[in-house]
Amino acid sequence: MQFNDTFLKACRNEHTDYTPMWIMRQAGRYQPEYRKVREKYSLVEICHHPEICAEVTILPVEQLKVDAAILFSDIMIPLDPMGIRFEIKESVGPVIDNPIKTLQDVERISEIDLDKIDFVRKTVQILKQELKVPLIGFCGAPFTLASYMIEGGPSKNFMKTKTFMYTQPDAWHLLMQKLSAGMFTYLQFQVANGASALQVFDSWVGNLTADDYRQYIQPHAKALFEKLKVLNVPLIHFGFSASHLLELIQEAGGDVIGIDWKTSLAQAKQRLGQNVALQGNLDPVSLFAPWEVLEKKTAYILDSIPQRGHIFNLGHGILPHTNVAQVQRLVEFVHTHSRQP
Ligand code: CP3
Repeated sequence: MQFNDTFLKACRNEHTDYTPMWIMRQAGRYQPEYRKVREKYSLVEICHHPEICAEVTILPVEQLKVDAAILFSDIMIPLDPMGIRFEIKESVGPVIDNPIKTLQDVERISEIDLDKIDFVRKTVQILKQELKVPLIGFCGAPFTLASYMIEGGPSKNFMKTKTFMYTQPDAWHLLMQKLSAGMFTYLQFQVANGASALQVFDSWVGNLTADDYRQYIQPHAKALFEKLKVLNVPLIHFGFSASHLLELIQEAGGDVIGIDWKTSLAQAKQRLGQNVALQGNLDPVSLFAPWEVLEKKTAYILDSIPQRGHIFNLGHGILPHTNVAQVQRLVEFVHTHSRQP
């Protein structure tokens, strides 16, 4: 089988024969095979075993026939080698042992020690050998990571994070600098070992006003994307529920802007310009609708913007109870419906 580079071409806004797609959280609990692996190993244990981790990464590519793989990992994995201890709690998400409260806590965060995540190097190297589609490496963006580190876990209103930002701006900026530097090293490491595109997930940034984004986040996101340019791979920048920040996110950087399911793709294209590639944006819950409804919604998205420079995806992660056959049908439909004569 030949290497399928359709996804990379679309990221570069080049002509492709059809719209490529992958799915955020494409390796996960909706797959019976993944659930089986999880009976034996925790999420972190899977990451620590390169052979198993590679298998879990490959599974959705083979099962769904998507055009890209995403490294099976979590945004928290690179924090451990910076001295941040965490746990991933079932149906909750990341929980931190000692949440950050003071400047001293921030000063204690170390530079990322790549030797401690040698399993990532091994997994990516296996995937480089085995995959016939591009591998997407990823990290959490500084704000999203900081929010877990300060809140101690998932949050509804980000009260502690914003209070920290407003009351200890020096400590905040130091934290963002450290995370931005650490994530650059981490992403560079993934590319050096075989990742051929990168996605930065700023999942919770939509909880900020545009003014706060500009003042407290954007300089650091910009610094990260500026440095990433030298790696010469497509960069995807995704924020959830961040319609009000789209232009600012684009300004911070990225060849591809990820669009969440709440935002109109056509309007995003108008606002961001014809030269930026877009990724998105089917509502993950649409997969629970009868096929005819799902088909209509998918066709609507595909027909709403030019085919060139569009990477089809969900507008956030796939949900645990999604039916695999329905996802397979979706992928097939996206490929055939978008095919240029
Ligand atoms: O297939 C893939 O997309 C790659 C794997 C991946 C995971 N997490 C594995 C995982 C990716 C890309 C992530 C990123 C991630 N992790 C983000 C950014 C993307 C987003 O969804 O906005 C965030 C915010 C996290 C933090 C996190 N980890 C959350 C919110 C959860 C869900 C909690 C739950 O159980 O519902 C996790 C756990 C997690 N990470 C799972 C998976 C497959 C859940 C399944 C499990 O525990 O096995």
